[in-house]
Amino acid sequence: MPKKTVPTPKDTGTGTIVGATPEELKQFEAEEAGNGKKETKEEKVEKWDPQTVTTTLSNGTTIKCVDVFRDALLDTKREGIKDLLQYIQEIGFLEAPCSGGNHLCKKGGLLEHSVNVFLNAERIGLALLGEKAYEEIRDSIAIAALLHDLGKVGDYGKQMYVDNVLKSGKVSEAKPFKRNPDLSAVPHAIRSVKLATLFVDLTEDEEWAILCHDGLYDYMKYDLKGKETPLQMIIHWADMWASHVQEGGSDDGKAGEE
Ligand SMILES: [Fe+2]
Ligand SMILES: [Fe+2]
Repeated sequence: MPKKTVPTPKDTGTGTIVGATPEELKQFEAEEAGNGKKETKEEKVEKWDPQTVTTTLSNGTTIKCVDVFRDALLDTKREGIKDLLQYIQEIGFLEAPCSGGNHLCKKGGLLEHSVNVFLNAERIGLALLGEKAYEEIRDSIAIAALLHDLGKVGDYGKQMYVDNVLKSGKVSEAKPFKRNPDLSAVPHAIRSVKLATLFVDLTEDEEWAILCHDGLYDYMKYDLKGKETPLQMIIHWADMWASHVQEGGSDDGKAGEE
């Protein structure tokens, strides 16, 4: 159960529940079939399978992002994590783009980016800290890396990115999404913390790592400078590497460039 009242999520029609047990999945499907929603959904919603979102490891292996995302978060055994997984799927996390016209501006882009950041954070952490010290922050790496951009999904029943329809009536190919003008311009990192803490408690370090992931010395520079923790630095650089190097864009969080 969420710790607070949460906005009613819209049904995103992806057909799976991340983190759901088989029993929960059966119950969900039975409810869907019982109220007639399923037929309507199948008629109206384009079929899309989050299992098609993959990323490639440095050794050339291709992996399914949704599996990594779910398993790494469940492995933390953080109280409320299953409910959070279900909720963020219901509000459209799995199909959300990562940007409007920048890196991974495509369906499933946010999921792919989040997993890229997690895998990078794991590599950086293991390489720099060594196995023993990394183990101490392993759960925090998963939580902070996989949830750092959660706010990009939107809130209050409104997606952060909506189709960027040109005057011609066609969706722009160069910048297929734009920021939803109906959603407040709260920095997405702040929204990430808000959404995550509807269901799970974050540690102080995780909260700061999420808040300053887009730039350690951005709007919190004087609060943070000289007090950086390994988790904060790892998440920031893992995000930079994913967005700038692997995904060929930027992720600086500024409204005009997202
Ligand atoms: Fe971000
Ligand atoms: Fe990011």
